Amino acid sequence: MTIDQPATRPVNPRFSSGPCAKPPVFDVSKLAGAALGRSHRAAIGKDKLKAAIEGTREILGIPADYRIGIVPASDTGAVEMALWSLLGARKVEMLAWESFGAGWVTDVVKQLKLDAEVKTAEYGQIVDLASVDFDKDVVFTWNGTTSGVRVPNGDWIAADRQGLTICDATSAAFAMDLPWDKLDVTTFSWQKVLGGEAAHGMIVLSPRAVERLESYTPAWPLPKIFRMTKGGKLIEGIFKGETINTPSMLAVEDYLFALDWARSVGGLDGLIARADANAQAIFDFCEAHDWIANLAEDAATRSNTSVCLKFTDARIQDGAAFAKAVAKRLEAEGVALDIGAYRDAPAGLRIWCGGTVETSDVAAMLPWLAWAFKVEIVAQAQAA
Ligand SMILES: Cc1ncc(COP(=O)(O)O)c(C=O)c1O
Repeated sequence: MTIDQPATRPVNPRFSSGPCAKPPVFDVSKLAGAALGRSHRAAIGKDKLKAAIEGTREILGIPADYRIGIVPASDTGAVEMALWSLLGARKVEMLAWESFGAGWVTDVVKQLKLDAEVKTAEYGQIVDLASVDFDKDVVFTWNGTTSGVRVPNGDWIAADRQGLTICDATSAAFAMDLPWDKLDVTTFSWQKVLGGEAAHGMIVLSPRAVERLESYTPAWPLPKIFRMTKGGKLIEGIFKGETINTPSMLAVEDYLFALDWARSVGGLDGLIARADANAQAIFDFCEAHDWIANLAEDAATRSNTSVCLKFTDARIQDGAAFAKAVAKRLEAEGVALDIGAYRDAPAGLRIWCGGTVETSDVAAMLPWLAWAFKVEIVAQAQAA
């Protein structure tokens, strides 16, 4: 029995959840203006770093009195510098519903050894947001990249909170509306929604976060790479492009290019609309096929970037092997790269839908998914 292949293929089969697809107009030659071989402290380097910061502010609509810094070690570096610099001043509540959030729980409970209240939910679900105590510092991930579950909005965050909110927004920034008045520390990396390069992270601080930094000294030592204050004062230079250590000027140029592309598609609204359209194409596909479903149980929490899917067909004998075989087949055909579920997540697929992905490519890939499913069902029956 042969199962016909779809007639068309995606132009770009890159659906990885990080590093994510470059903007569709990307070409390495576009980075020819990079300040390579120059000091990042020279005027040319500093101007570019400043443009990266201010371009981020402009596109994300970050208030003028919030500090934005480019920091080492990508989103992980940005989150950990926040945890190590700010926590310990008051009680802490940790929220986690997939592996990255769980990683921050490990940092806080096992490494910093703080007696935090930990609230967790299974993959596909979310914690009870109504029960969060904002007298405490609250650490959470806006979009759980490995489960495809996001917070529906920021309404659950108290406007009059006493604690700080520390939000890992790496797979949300540039694809979802982030309510800056509800977020005291926000982090993300360049390698995600704008398809930038890895290694650099960004940290966004509210005035209240700065106040904490200047009034509180943690009990533990802070490596240089985490230090945002000196003598009890914020190191303002970090937030003007005087990075803590040496950045890649090639990665900076690439980020500036991505910001320009973001402007060309209508800024944040345009980026959100692109991600929404991509995700909707997959949601519609799930509606139309009874053998596949979104891992996120509540539609209000469904990610528009890292869309996670599970196979639901009763004929499937070994869920993990089946999902792997489908992903491998799609990769071999060159129609979908890197769409296997994250290693710690339930068996299934994860398809990146951020704005750098073209909806036409998602639409061209989905019939291939249906094809691979049928082929694997047959292969499984033949092997039995
Ligand atoms: C929610 C979340 N947090 C943190 C990270 C780690 O990011 P990075 O490798 O850029 O430090 C990722 C990467 O996928 C992520 O999705």
